[in-house]
Amino acid sequence: DGTKRLSVNYVKGILQPTVTCDIWDEIWNFQAKSDDLLISTYPKAGTTWTQEIVELIQNEGDVEKSKRAPTHQRFPFLEWKIPSLGSGLEQAHAMPSPRILKTHLPFHLLPPSFLEKNCKIIYVARNPKDNMVSYYHFQRMNKALPDPGTWEEYFENFLAGKVCWGSWHEHVKGWWEAKDKHRILYLFYEDMKKNPKHEVQKLTEFIEKKLDDKVLDKIVHYTSFDVMKQNPMANYSSIPAEIMDHSISPFMRKGAVGDWKKHFTVAQNERFDEDYKKKMADTRLPFHFQF
Ligand code: PPS
Repeated sequence: DGTKRLSVNYVKGILQPTVTCDIWDEIWNFQAKSDDLLISTYPKAGTTWTQEIVELIQNEGDVEKSKRAPTHQRFPFLEWKIPSLGSGLEQAHAMPSPRILKTHLPFHLLPPSFLEKNCKIIYVARNPKDNMVSYYHFQRMNKALPDPGTWEEYFENFLAGKVCWGSWHEHVKGWWEAKDKHRILYLFYEDMKKNPKHEVQKLTEFIEKKLDDKVLDKIVHYTSFDVMKQNPMANYSSIPAEIMDHSISPFMRKGAVGDWKKHFTVAQNERFDEDYKKKMADTRLPFHFQF
């Protein structure tokens, strides 16, 4: 598409932007603090949404405080470094506690200090079909990731796990298996859409805050898709267009459940379901997604 994209490479068998591979030892040796809150997701599963909710819970509904800076500055993204935008590690080191950090790493590549320090971790999983569609459009607009190619090509690469941060299936399974052994709250994007207040309450409990009903309602409103889409501090519009070109596809694209139906052909859907059964046969992760 004429724009220079960042290259990718493998770290421990997982495809990553080369910028991440180059600082892998630093990432792996990251020293978490016991009051860090980590938001972990497969890319495009609802990270930004959860970040906004969690920060508002921590600040007891103080919306103005959340508007102090854009998402990518408020929540250091551990394994991310873009020369013009800065490095997640450096941001984390400079930030006062309590920090809210972001990662897309699969569980087995999580820097060990998060577990040693018994940090609270919030994991969000999203129906893989919508997750795939969202990731495809994101790769179209985000020059920090490879060009996704055609939808047909992307579909195959996604199923083969040949996308950055690896296989969706391995990711959600790895974190699911870890969740009872560590302080991990495992949420689903679809539940957040269906009953946001309930999920906000769950998060509030996990963060050990007590908020009254009015504040919960305020958080639900402020973190709704329509409100976040209009919020320049939460919609990624401050990232330069050479990196994220919202005219190709906005970061806040649809924010819906079931958009995959407009993208998948009948044959792709059958192929997906068959592959899903095989890859997910060895997990007790509930067949939670409505797809
Ligand atoms: S990233 O780049 O990994 O941090 O992206 P991430 O934030 O995980 O995922 C982006 C998708 O989440 C949608 N989104 C929301 N949905 C519902 N409600 C709210 N408030 C919300 N905020 C972001 C966003 O639109 C992307 O999904 P798609 O399906 O592409 O619209």
